[in-house]
Amino acid sequence: MVKTAVLVSGGGTNLQAIIDAHIFGEIKNCELAAVISSNPDAFAIQRAERAGIPVYVVDRKIFANRASFSEAIHKKLEDLDIDLAVLAGFMYVLDSPLIHAYRNRVINIHPALIPSFCGDGCYGLRVHEAALEYGVKVSGATAHFCVTEPDAGPIILQKAVEVREDDTPTSLQRRVMEEAEWKILPAAVSLYCEGRLEVTGRTVKISEAQDGV
Ligand code: GAR
Repeated sequence: MVKTAVLVSGGGTNLQAIIDAHIFGEIKNCELAAVISSNPDAFAIQRAERAGIPVYVVDRKIFANRASFSEAIHKKLEDLDIDLAVLAGFMYVLDSPLIHAYRNRVINIHPALIPSFCGDGCYGLRVHEAALEYGVKVSGATAHFCVTEPDAGPIILQKAVEVREDDTPTSLQRRVMEEAEWKILPAAVSLYCEGRLEVTGRTVKISEAQDGV
């Protein structure tokens, strides 16, 4: 079993998608061992508690800077002996010591088709505002491994979503979640836990499922 921690900051709909997929047996070989929240008031905490997953709060507000916050998250992952960290609506960039220690073991979901509408400062609703402002006809979501540069790591899965003429940032955000994020994030977690991802440089190869996994 791959001991997995899900990191959250807010509503936790991606966490819920992981919990549901796990319950339905769609995520294989995975132990949901912890939810770590950067926000003590995140609704995601209630979702984790309802599912019986231990919750740990590492409150971003009490840390002076990104480095000390990231160090606290790193220590929590180590203390819990976590194999895989999943950033599911986690709104902070983690520092290089953590990213290097957990190389190709931190998966993030981003609500756009990377390399569009991503990078430092481009998260949450801002991503969809930027996509609509640019006038793209297609957006989507990307599940990828984290490297030190935000949203720049090897891509595991992507799914496209049509942009409609009457979309607002909120309606596009919702459709990207429903049609893309909630599907590809649990799928990426399962692929990792099944040992089916092979990373070479920027490329992630997905191998066939083995019998019995
Ligand atoms: C999701 O759309 C997620 O992809 C995005 O924030 C939302 C959080 O929703 N994350 C980022 O923009 C990180 N770069 P959730 O808390 O309901 O899962």
